[in-house]
Amino acid sequence: MTEDLRIGHPIIDTDHQRLFDIINNFNTLSVSLSNETRMHETLKALYRYGEEHFQREQKIQIDCGYPYCSTHAAEHKKLSDEIAGIATDFFIKKSKPLDRDAIKFLNQFLEDWIIRHVKKVDMTMEHYVVTTMSSGGDGGSAVERFASLDMVALVVDAGAASRDMLCRTLIRMGVTIVLEADGIVDGMKKCMGDPAPDFLVIGSGLEFQKFIGTLRSTQAAYVAALPAILAIDPADRVAEDVAAACGMQGAFLKTQTAQEISQAIRRCLA
Ligand SMILES: [Fe+2]
Repeated sequence: MTEDLRIGHPIIDTDHQRLFDIINNFNTLSVSLSNETRMHETLKALYRYGEEHFQREQKIQIDCGYPYCSTHAAEHKKLSDEIAGIATDFFIKKSKPLDRDAIKFLNQFLEDWIIRHVKKVDMTMEHYVVTTMSSGGDGGSAVERFASLDMVALVVDAGAASRDMLCRTLIRMGVTIVLEADGIVDGMKKCMGDPAPDFLVIGSGLEFQKFIGTLRSTQAAYVAALPAILAIDPADRVAEDVAAACGMQGAFLKTQTAQEISQAIRRCLA
């Protein structure tokens, strides 16, 4: 991200950098049309992180007395809808061919999408946010990030809310693609699929011992050796010992802050 696109607020600028990273990753993947699934997952990551960033940005706007909050929120909604529309047309309905011309269009569109918004719309809040700078609680800046920009994680958790929280935390940590599964069967399928995950985060509400047993005895060596971390519900604290006994890389409590969870995940994977 170039200097002229910096707003001067650390949380907003970090978020914008992350959106640029995801778009650059899409650009890299699109060199080969055979990366269609990964391109789709990257657009999903862009949509998800975009939504989270827009909410965070809107909260900062309210806190600092920015007078154009509702117009700006409408612009954010339009941006999210545009990404969802592209993902649907090219990767779900496949109503438009994903050929070289389409890829050229998509890369140009994504670059315009972010630059146009940051330059023309976000810059209007520069004066307000910079003069009212505050760290603001969890805010999004404190999460520990991964050094690599090309990571795929798989979250297997039966609870929609906690699964979403885990996915969002991983995206904030810099994971490019976060896959989700709500049970063991789908989880195993995604372990063997494309894109292949680099590590797993598994909710303790599942029969995780059975899952890890199946995983470790899989024929494919890469899948059998996948690092797996347990995300424990407060009611299942005993699960921490069980996780270590069945060969998982570590465990953390789900009810911690995003910062604490990110630190625990980094520790488990070190
Ligand atoms: Fe914005």
